[in-house]
Amino acid sequence: MARAESHNAMPAGLPRHIAITMDGNGRWAAARGLSRSSGHKAGLTPVRLCVEECTRLGVEALTLFAFSSENWSRPADEVASLMGLFLSAIDGEVDELDRKGVRLRIIGNRQALSVRLQAQIGAAERRTAANSGLKLQIAVSYGGRWDIVQAARKLAAQCASGELQPAQIDERRFAAALELGDLADSDLLIRTGGERRISNFLLWHLAYAELYFSDRLWPDFDLAEFTRALEFFAGRERRFGLTGGQVHSAEREQGLQR
Ligand code: FPP
Repeated sequence: MARAESHNAMPAGLPRHIAITMDGNGRWAAARGLSRSSGHKAGLTPVRLCVEECTRLGVEALTLFAFSSENWSRPADEVASLMGLFLSAIDGEVDELDRKGVRLRIIGNRQALSVRLQAQIGAAERRTAANSGLKLQIAVSYGGRWDIVQAARKLAAQCASGELQPAQIDERRFAAALELGDLADSDLLIRTGGERRISNFLLWHLAYAELYFSDRLWPDFDLAEFTRALEFFAGRERRFGLTGGQVHSAEREQGLQR
């Protein structure tokens, strides 16, 4: 499914790459006397909503933090039910994602996943690889530090084989060795569940991201709250280390060139 994706074609103020930490499923379930697994299951509804809305708006990329490197230490039954949920969600959603033109990728240490889940992920990725709509990344067994270490290892191996000189390693080359090497940095991070921290998510890619913290528990995250996050982003002045005066004169110059 072809769709225009040029950065320049995007409405001003729309993030290119939204990252979301989906927190609060357990508390949402506990408040209803349900199992934590039921909370995770209920978390699929806002995932669909975000994919739908990003597709409608023309956001380039959406990266969701579904399972961290540290989540393996949760009770075994919760880990098993989350892995089961990933299996059934990929199986159940891939047709609709494909129909919407979404390109699905899983990021993280996939060797830690079951062979069955790895195979299913591979099949869903191959099936949607040529789609030109929303780039949807689900982070499973992912940690920002793990990502930086695996990138460093890749580059070290290239240096060891003589393919690369250490002096050739710069930020661009390092970023390309990370999991999201082909995507723009995340410019908006949304975290639900009331906590105000990064929790080892996309450490490199969030360097200049705007941070939107929502007190909503993830299963309660709805279109109105998503829209508030986008409005928050649109209202931010993005300086990238420049002064406000420099940003304004660059904007004036761009205006004159148009
Ligand atoms: C954190 O809430 C949430 C998770 C560890 C799981 C997130 C997974 C989903 C929403 C399912 C989505 C599935 C796909 C395929 C994208 P928590 O359990 O830490 O909540 P708590 O802080 O209230 O305990």
